[in-house]
Amino acid sequence: MEGIFQSGALKGCVAFITGGGSGINLEIGRALGSLGASIGICGRNADRLEGASNVLRAKGADVFTAVADVRDFDAVQSAMDGCRDALGPVTFLVCGAAGNFLSPAESMSANGFKTVIDIDLMGAFNAARAGFEQLKETRGSILFISGGQSWVPFAYQAHVGAAKAGIDNLMANLALEWGPYGIRSNSIVPGPIEGTEGMQRMGGDEQRDIWEAMTPLGRMGRAQEVAAMAAFLASPAASFVSGARIPVDGGQNLTGSHVFNAAIAKQFNRANP
Ligand code: COA
Repeated sequence: MEGIFQSGALKGCVAFITGGGSGINLEIGRALGSLGASIGICGRNADRLEGASNVLRAKGADVFTAVADVRDFDAVQSAMDGCRDALGPVTFLVCGAAGNFLSPAESMSANGFKTVIDIDLMGAFNAARAGFEQLKETRGSILFISGGQSWVPFAYQAHVGAAKAGIDNLMANLALEWGPYGIRSNSIVPGPIEGTEGMQRMGGDEQRDIWEAMTPLGRMGRAQEVAAMAAFLASPAASFVSGARIPVDGGQNLTGSHVFNAAIAKQFNRANP
């Protein structure tokens, strides 16, 4: 991000990122950290958090980590309280923790559906709610990580689509209700981002040709490209941006999900949805 944004552009920013130990979320932490932000991350896996904190410290960031499952409100609250004690009140909250697997709706258990709703949607609410007092104090902002499943249905993604659409609606509600406190709320809708666990769970980078065919820019995206938008949203340059659902997807949302659906149905030996 250095060289694109001014050095130290995010000095004074305290970011807290759920699911910050890997993938797009970690890349957001790296980008913000390299611009001077302090970074708090939480996740379920202590080893992963440890590895991520080394990566972030190497960027020069002050780092706080806490093991917390976003499904557990008290754990998230205590992680955010600990982050405040270590780094100061949060100015930029990233609700990024997510879960995914491919499953036809008719064979998905109720618990499978609920698990993704709990991680993605409840987890996003838990983090926003736990962070509210700090964000109110700093007139900070919230970034939700949504998904293309929120715009159009993707096959075998009923649970994820419901969760991501809920997240985008929550984002809009909080922009409305918390705007008067000076709190901004936005979501990024990442397209196919190479090398991420999210892509792995959607069939893997081996499906690259499918994603390339579905994306007007003709390629998969890079996590740094999502992180650049996050850095913009964390900066004063975005001070009047709230309630926005911003695709960072090479135009993928314009072409729908048909190519993916056909390919994945074949893998599951099912009729084209
Ligand atoms: N197909 C169908 N159902 C599945 C499934 C699959 N591939 N994977 C899990 N489930 C179901 C389980 O069967 C279980 O339901 P049941 O109790 O009725 O059997 C339910 O989902 C919960 O599974 P469990 O493994 O106990 O949940 P978990 O909390 O340990 O893991 C997941 C949550 C399933 C979302 C897991 O994929 C995960 O931890 N993901 C985090 C990382 C990730 O997905 N990153 C990408 C984000 S885009």
